[in-house]
Order: sequence, then structure tokens, then C-alpha cells
Amino acid sequence: MKNKNLISITDFSKEEQLHLLDVAEEFAQNPRQRILADKIVATLFFEPSTRTRLSFESAANQLGARIIGFSDASNSSVTKGETLKDTILMVSNYADLIVMRHPREGSARYASEVAKVPVINAGDGANQHPTQCLLDLYSIRKTQGRLDNLNIAFVGDLKYGRTVHSLTQALCNFNCTFHFVSPVELKMPSYVKQTVKDNKLEYHQYTELSDVIPFADIIYMTRVQRERFADPMEYEKVKNSCILNKAMLANCKENMKILHPLPRVNEIATDVDNTPYAYYFQQAHNGVFVRQALMSLILGAKE
Ligand code: CP
Repeated sequence: MKNKNLISITDFSKEEQLHLLDVAEEFAQNPRQRILADKIVATLFFEPSTRTRLSFESAANQLGARIIGFSDASNSSVTKGETLKDTILMVSNYADLIVMRHPREGSARYASEVAKVPVINAGDGANQHPTQCLLDLYSIRKTQGRLDNLNIAFVGDLKYGRTVHSLTQALCNFNCTFHFVSPVELKMPSYVKQTVKDNKLEYHQYTELSDVIPFADIIYMTRVQRERFADPMEYEKVKNSCILNKAMLANCKENMKILHPLPRVNEIATDVDNTPYAYYFQQAHNGVFVRQALMSLILGAKE
């Protein structure tokens, strides 16, 4: 994986994804390894983030790398009219690796085409979030002991929620069955459903969350992405459509785990947090190990 970009989860083969999860497991056992002490990582966040940026920076720090960048593009020369191309060309001179989040779909791919160093997509609009996908795969394997033959329920904003697009594509390698739960306005995009069909796998669509609870191995909740709605009234109509609370879990499978990329708004009631099914905070913690593995492999410090 040395010098590869990660823009879409499909940029890594199934074998590469599984290898990365194994390396992440090594970091979970031994996170402080100063193997990137001679490297500089640039984190360019044109859109807000807590987990992705801070877990990348924590991961880089634990590996001894130095970090440059911005968490708010209003502090950069973008405000003076500098193009994305020029910004990326400049940062390529200052860092060995660029981690970028941007509100525009396709911006990460474009950045990778002009950059002189590898680029990792930390989320581009409603399109892809491949590093979240890798930590989701890690979390599913950790909690279920496997990735194959699982019933995966994706719930909430399946239209704008970029994490569910990447994760559905990745799980198509593992013979999973997909259960898409959303209001009709926020259904999974056709191109993602087509990927499921192309892999000769099954998907089912629902509007009621309670329909999937008895048989799901993973319930992957998502926030309704208010910032991506053109019309605030449309957001108001759907914002409370899929809410999970503790009482609804009475008939779930014993092994079932609830994931969420976070941040949450109201879609998981706080009374779920102390049940044995809640895994979303550990999931976010796993992001540090997965991002350590990713940066080490791309920068050639691990094979
Ligand atoms: N999961 C995720 O992308 O969270 P942040 O927006 O806080 O980075």
C-alpha cells in the first residue's frame, strides 16, 4: 500500500483491507511506536470534524510524526480566493501525506490528481468516508469475530450519510445481507444498491426500524445530515424518523451491536449507552488504531 491514495474504499482490494485490519490490531496491542518520527502529516479540514481529525492527529502523534494543517478553512488563504489545486500543490511541498475533508463530492479525487504526496480522503461531501469504513470493518470484525454472512441494518439518512455508502460497498466482499431502513426521502442511492446487485447479494428496504431489530447482527445508526438539505423544511419533516431506544432492544439478538459514526443528535436515546449492545464509543476509539495502520502502510513504515 506504500504511496497509495485512499479516496474511495474500492481503491483498496479486499486483501489490502483485511491486511490493514490486522496491522490495526497490532497497534491496538502496542499503540506507541515512533516509526513515523521523520514524517510530516498535513490535516486539511475544510469542513468541521471532531473524531476524524483528532484521531488522525492522535494516531500521528503516537507514531512520532509531526502535524501541520488547519481545522477551519477560514484561517487559510482559501478566504483570499486560492484554489483547491494551488492549496494542495503548496501543502505537497510541506508534508509527506495529506489528510483532507472537504464539503464537495469529488474534491478528494481531484486533490489526489494534483498532489505530489499521497492523499487520504477524510470525507468528501455526501460521497465517501473510506477511513470511517475501515474502522467500521475493524469494529464489526472485533465484535462479531468475522465479516462474512452477517445481517447488516443501515438506519437513518442513507442518502446523504457518506459512511453507509463506503461500508455497503466494502461489505459486498463478505456475502452480507443488507437491510436499509430510512424515510422514503432518504433512501440509499441507486448506485450503492446497484453494487449490491452486481455482487449478487440481497438488500431489503424498510421504513420502520423495529422491523429489523430481531434479526440484525449490526444496527448501524446514522444522523440525518441537516447541513446537506437544500430546504430546511424538508429536514424538519424527516429529522425524527428513525430513533432507537432501550425498550426497542428487548427482542434483539444476543450478539447484536449498535454502531454509529457519530456525532449523534437524537437518533440513539442515551438510555441505550449502558446496554451491552452499544459499541459506538469503542468504535470511535478503534479509529486511532486503524488510522495508525493506514498512515504506517502508506508511508512505508509497515508492510
Ligand atoms: N465520524 C466522523 O466522521 O466524525 P467527525 O465528523 O467528528 O469527524
